[in-house]
Amino acid sequence: ALCEQVEALLSQMTPEEKIGQMNQVAGSRDTTGAPANTDIEADVRAGRVGSVFNAFGVEFTRELQQQAIEHSRLGIPLLFGYDIIHGFRTIFPIPLGQAASWHLEGIEHATRIMAEEGAAAGVHWTFAPMVDISRDPRWGRVMEGAGEDVLLTSRIARAQVRGIQGSDPGATDTLAACVKHYAAYGAAEAGREYNTVDLSEWRLREHYLPPFLAALEEGCASIMTAFNTLNAIPATCHPLLLDQILRREWDFEGMVVTDYTAVMELECHGVAEDASEASRKSVNAGVDMDMQSGYFVETLSELVQGGQVDEARIDEAVRRILWLKAALGLFDDPYRYADNERETRCLMNDAHRRAAREQARESMVLLKNDGHVLPLSDQHRKVALIGPLGNTPRLLGSWRGNGDHDDTITLREGIANRLGEDAVILCAQGASNQIGENDTDGIEDALELVRQADAVVLALGEDEDYADEAASRADIGLPGAQLELARRVLAEAGDTPVATVLFNGRPMDLTELDTMAPAILEAWWPGTEAGNAVTDVLFGDVNPSGRLPMTFPISVGQVPIYYNAFNTGRPKGVDPKYASQYLDIPNAPLYPFGFGLSYTSFEYGPIETEATEIALEDTLEVSLTVTNTGEREGIEVVQLYLQDVSASVVRPIRELKDFQRLTLAPGACELVTFRITPDMRHFLNAELESVQEPGLFRVQIGRCSQSGEEIEFSVA
Ligand code: IFM
Repeated sequence: ALCEQVEALLSQMTPEEKIGQMNQVAGSRDTTGAPANTDIEADVRAGRVGSVFNAFGVEFTRELQQQAIEHSRLGIPLLFGYDIIHGFRTIFPIPLGQAASWHLEGIEHATRIMAEEGAAAGVHWTFAPMVDISRDPRWGRVMEGAGEDVLLTSRIARAQVRGIQGSDPGATDTLAACVKHYAAYGAAEAGREYNTVDLSEWRLREHYLPPFLAALEEGCASIMTAFNTLNAIPATCHPLLLDQILRREWDFEGMVVTDYTAVMELECHGVAEDASEASRKSVNAGVDMDMQSGYFVETLSELVQGGQVDEARIDEAVRRILWLKAALGLFDDPYRYADNERETRCLMNDAHRRAAREQARESMVLLKNDGHVLPLSDQHRKVALIGPLGNTPRLLGSWRGNGDHDDTITLREGIANRLGEDAVILCAQGASNQIGENDTDGIEDALELVRQADAVVLALGEDEDYADEAASRADIGLPGAQLELARRVLAEAGDTPVATVLFNGRPMDLTELDTMAPAILEAWWPGTEAGNAVTDVLFGDVNPSGRLPMTFPISVGQVPIYYNAFNTGRPKGVDPKYASQYLDIPNAPLYPFGFGLSYTSFEYGPIETEATEIALEDTLEVSLTVTNTGEREGIEVVQLYLQDVSASVVRPIRELKDFQRLTLAPGACELVTFRITPDMRHFLNAELESVQEPGLFRVQIGRCSQSGEEIEFSVA
C-alpha cells in the first residue's frame, strides 16, 4: 500500500516538483521566532523543498508543515531533520563517553529517550548514528563516534539504530535514523578536519565500512555522505561507495543525503567546474537529497532535459524520499509529531534526567588511583575545587542539540548537593582552558584555597567546543596554563588528597599529568547531569566501570595509534637498534584501548577449553572464572581478543571479538564463557574476499587490550 501511494503521487509530479523533493534547506528560527531563512516559506509553497533541517518545536514545525500541506500544489509533507547526537533537550554524555560504558542496553535506552524528546519537538529524522572509526585524536569529531574499534562501534551503531527507530513502525515517539559519514571521514590525514583520505580498499572494507553495514542491517532508514575525498574522489560523488557497495553489494533501498553543502564543495575539491557538473556527478553516483547547496533545484531540470541525468534516476531518488515520508506516517497525518501537550510533558522530565545521570556515571573511566585517593570520603568537609571546569556549566559537549547550559549541573553544584549545607566548597579557576590563554596569575589564589582544604578536586580539560566539527588540534595536551596549575596544586597539596577530573572530547596527551597526579578520572563531557554524576563517582556512591574506547597516546608523535595494529618484520625488543621504534618515546600508549580501573579488584582464572584443535566450521567455547577480590560491588568488562597468528595476509596482533559486562558482589565469582565462532575468524584476503584460513589462533581474555589470560588453538 505504501508503494502504491508513493507511485500514485509520483505520477502526478512535475519534474520541478520531483527535484524540489531532493532539496533540503536549513530552517532555524531567529530570535523573534520567525524563520531565519526568509525564502523558506515561499520555497515550500512552490514545491521547491522536500526537507527542512534545524527546524524544531511543535509550533514552528507545524507552521512550516502548514505551508507545504495547505499551499503547495500536491501538499506533500515536509520531513524535519535535526542533529540529535547525544540528546535533544536532556543531554547525555558525548558519544565517545557513552561508548566508554560498553553498555549496549544503556546506550539503546539513552538513545530511545533522545529520540522521544526529538519526536516530541516535531522532529522526524535525526542525523545519527555517527559511526566513523578514528585512530587520530587530533580530529575533533572523535567525540561523536564510538572510538577506534570495528566491533565496539558496530555493536553500538546497532544499539543506537534500535534506540532511534524503535520496533513499532506506527509509533510517533521514534525517529528515522541516518548513519554517517559515508565513508572514512575519520581517517583524515593528520587529523585535520575535512582533509584528504587515502586508504587501501582492503582497509576501507575491513575497518571503516563494517559499522555502516551493521547500522543498515539493523534497519537504519538513511545514510549521509562524507565531506572528504577517498582515494582522490569526493565521497559525495563516489561510484564505488554510493553505487557499487551501498546499492549493489549491500542492497540498500533507503535514502542518501549529502552532508551540508557537500554537493557545492565538489567545485572546491576540483572535480566539478560548476553547479551543474557538481549536481550531475553526485546524482549520477547515487545521491538522493542535497543538503543546503541548492544546486539540485538550480541545475537538475536542465540536466534531465539535456539527457545528462536520467529521469529514471530522479524518480528513484524521489521514490526513496517519499517512501521515508510514507513510512513515518506523514501522508496519513502530516502533523502527527506536533503535539503541544506531549512536548511539554516529555522534554527533560525527571526520568530523562535520571537516565542521563545514570549513563554519565557509567561513561567515566578511572585512569589512575594510586594510594586509593578515590573515593573521597564524607569526612572531607572542606573541599577545594580548583580549575577552569569546576564551576562552569560548559559540560554538555558539542553537538548538544537544544541542550541548555542553564539546566546543567556544574561540578560545584554536584559536590554541594552531595555534601550538604555544612560543607565548605572553596572554588578557584586558577587557569584558563582556552587555547593561547597562558596567564598564570590566578594560580596563587588557587594555592591559598588548597592550603585550607582537606581534599582537593582539580577539574581540568578542554573547552566543550574544542572537540567538534572543524575543531582539530595539533597539540592534544591540556590547553592554557592548566598543566602549570596542576604542577603547582599537586606540589602544594602535600598529604591532602587530590583527585583530578578531566572533561574533554578526545584522548589527550596526559603523560606529564600522569606522572604527578595520584588519581585521574576521565569524565568526558557528561551532559546535563554532569556535576551530580561526577560527584557520585568521586565520593564512591558509584564504582567507576568505564573502559577506554580509544587509545590515549604517550605523545602526539605516536598518532595514529590503535590497539589492533600489525606486527612488523622487526618488532621492538628483538634487535636493540634495527627495530620498529622511536628513539625518544616508547611504542606503547599511556592508556591502552579497553583500559579502566575500579574501586574494587578482579582476578582472572586460567582459560579453559575442551579442544585445542577444531575444524573450520566449528565454534570453540572458552571459559574462565572472574572473581571480585575487593571489598565492594563492581562492574567488570571482560574482553575477548583473537589473533590469527599466520595467514595469507597480515592479521592484527589482536582484535576485539566479544565482551561481557558483569556485575560482581565482593567475593563473588562468575564463570564467563565466550563462543569463538567461524565468523570471528573471518577476514578479508588479498582478493577482498571474506575467508577463514586454517592455522594457529591466539586467544586473550582480560580487562584491557594489553593484558590477559592466553591460550592457543588451531583450526585444521
Ligand atoms: O549532520 C551534520 C553533519 O554531521 C555535519 N555537517 C552538518 C550536518 C547537519 O547539521
